[in-house]
Amino acid sequence: MLADKDRIFTNLYGQDDWRLEAARKRGDWSNTAEIIAKGRDAIVAEMKASGLRGRGGAGFPTGLKWSFMPKQSDGRPHYLVINGDESEPGTCKDREVMRHEPHKLIESAMIASFAMGAHTSYIYIRGEFCREAERLQAAIDEAYAAGLLGKNAAGSGWDFDFRIHRGAGAYICGEETALLESLEGKKGQPRMKPPFPAGVGLYGCPTTVNNVESIAVTSTIMRRGAAWFAGLGRPNNAGSKLMAISGHVNTPCVFEEELGVPLKEIIEKHGGGVRGGWDNLLAVIPGGCSVPLLPKSVCETVLMDYDSLRAERSGLGTACMIVMDRSTDIIKAIARFSKFFKHESCGQCTPCREGTGWMMRIMNRMVEGRAEIDEIDMLEQVTRQVEGHTICALGDAAAWPIQGLIRHFRPEMEERIRQYKAAHGGTGLVQVPA
Ligand code: NAI
Ligand code: SF4
Repeated sequence: MLADKDRIFTNLYGQDDWRLEAARKRGDWSNTAEIIAKGRDAIVAEMKASGLRGRGGAGFPTGLKWSFMPKQSDGRPHYLVINGDESEPGTCKDREVMRHEPHKLIESAMIASFAMGAHTSYIYIRGEFCREAERLQAAIDEAYAAGLLGKNAAGSGWDFDFRIHRGAGAYICGEETALLESLEGKKGQPRMKPPFPAGVGLYGCPTTVNNVESIAVTSTIMRRGAAWFAGLGRPNNAGSKLMAISGHVNTPCVFEEELGVPLKEIIEKHGGGVRGGWDNLLAVIPGGCSVPLLPKSVCETVLMDYDSLRAERSGLGTACMIVMDRSTDIIKAIARFSKFFKHESCGQCTPCREGTGWMMRIMNRMVEGRAEIDEIDMLEQVTRQVEGHTICALGDAAAWPIQGLIRHFRPEMEERIRQYKAAHGGTGLVQVPA
């Protein structure tokens, strides 16, 4: 469990003032110019050594991603783009950073931008986050007024501008290349990768896209050192992480915790336990809704980190857990996600555009039980046709929750079909002649 002395987000709950003066007392902006003086290579090396992995969901090593940015300029500007389009269902951790720790984010963005040769950073904020955008803008204004941004930012010799761009509420604009398209003023549709943004990103220039939390921890890692951060968590799963718990727990919350702590312990300590007690637990989706659920038997022992959850054929995702007790209609819950992905698909590639519709329609019938038992296999086949065959990860995200449902709750799906047949004398489906 994370000790108070190792906490990065010391004002996560807004118990203290967010403004510059208070942020400075908490340590933000204290020796920014000294950190910058270490040089680009040293900062990237420190971030690599820290073992930080991307906190938006995919877990790609952050320092490695930064190292893909060209060392020498070919005349094109470099950009850091911060992904604040937090739209994953059940996920609301970055919002707290923008609300209560805006200066930690702005200072970290400056250090990260310097390390990648960028003089400008954009943050793309989810359209619905009006107050968060206002708060961040107020903090940016304070930072400009104090000489921490702009020419010779924070006396570092580096010119740095930080700008906000507001999204308009499309989930797909959180996908990094759709985000770049949207930032350029175009329709937010994912691009093919490669090329990755480090080669061809915003306005065709070298760009790194990082999640809000991944950037916000940079200043603390640079102050306290890579070894300190790498000493938290487990090998290959370093550090602390913002997490959230929603659903059927006694105290839903957002908090910072060390990676590698048992999921059960986390739910009991931070979430106040499952409503009705641990035995009332049915399943947990460990990170947003894009990763497969875990049944109670797995939740008994699994650790909350990238590798442990991967070994259970799920994933850490955003580390924002959705807890479901035994009152949950689990088939209906997953069908609801299918509707979400169908709605949010941008429609440019066929397996996703058509497949999300197929998955949603079959799932809707599965909720009623109006299906044949062998259609469960057919549904699984549809998910396999979508998975890995699309331009962006939304196709996988639509397929995985259904695969998790079939893997762990197949008997419940079959029983629902049997009950429907018993009550209605058949499936009610029109039989197409062979
Ligand atoms: P990804 O695995 O394709 O990429 C992760 C990052 O690593 C990207 O920045 C990508 O450019 C970079 N990368 C990967 N391979 C690379 C290579 N060979 N060379 C250079 N760079 C490389 O995953 P993606 O699509 O960025 O994110 C998917 C995840 O996002 C999902 O797992 C989901 O958990 C999460 N997500 C989070 C949301 C939120 O609100 N925080 C919303 C929706 C999804
Ligand atoms: Fe669009 Fe879906 Fe294809 Fe992603 S997978 S590009 S959301 S159609």
